[in-house]
Amino acid sequence: MISKKVADSLNKHMNLELYSAHIYLSMSSCANEMGLKGAANWFMVQYREEMVHFMKFYTYLVDQGMNIELLSSKAVPNTYKSLLEMMQRTLTHEELISKCINDLSEQAVQAKDHATQIFLQWFVTEQVEEENNDRDLIAKLKLVGDNGHGILMIDADMAQRVFVQPVGAPLAV
Ligand code: FEO
Repeated sequence: MISKKVADSLNKHMNLELYSAHIYLSMSSCANEMGLKGAANWFMVQYREEMVHFMKFYTYLVDQGMNIELLSSKAVPNTYKSLLEMMQRTLTHEELISKCINDLSEQAVQAKDHATQIFLQWFVTEQVEEENNDRDLIAKLKLVGDNGHGILMIDADMAQRVFVQPVGAPLAV
């Protein structure tokens, strides 16, 4: 049994995961417009991962007998000056998500809600990986600066990213 207070917080975060998906879908089109097909792929994979995160929250709440509430999504930014700016915005956004997940975990502990604590553990680990990936790319992009050849090499690396459906996660797309 989940408390209304915890369920409301999870519902709010579920909407934030959907908003995250929209941010990365928009970044994918922006990277494509810049001619960076690899980065466009990277952000498309990120979009798909966020949809999995969204569906994980959705499924958890529905399995707990809750009627979820979808909030209307606000418009997402769609203009960026560079790939570096997109990655810096990505890291800032993921740091916000990490803080939200930590706050949710703390709330679940306070509510002695063990099921929600276990549910959130996957996200705690996932956020460490996400932030780390973003920091790696930012470091590389800072190293190459405005060097077009360097940016294209990073773009080629980003083209290699593939979406992997997490084991047991609900299908999102
Ligand atoms: Fe779903 Fe990127 O956090």
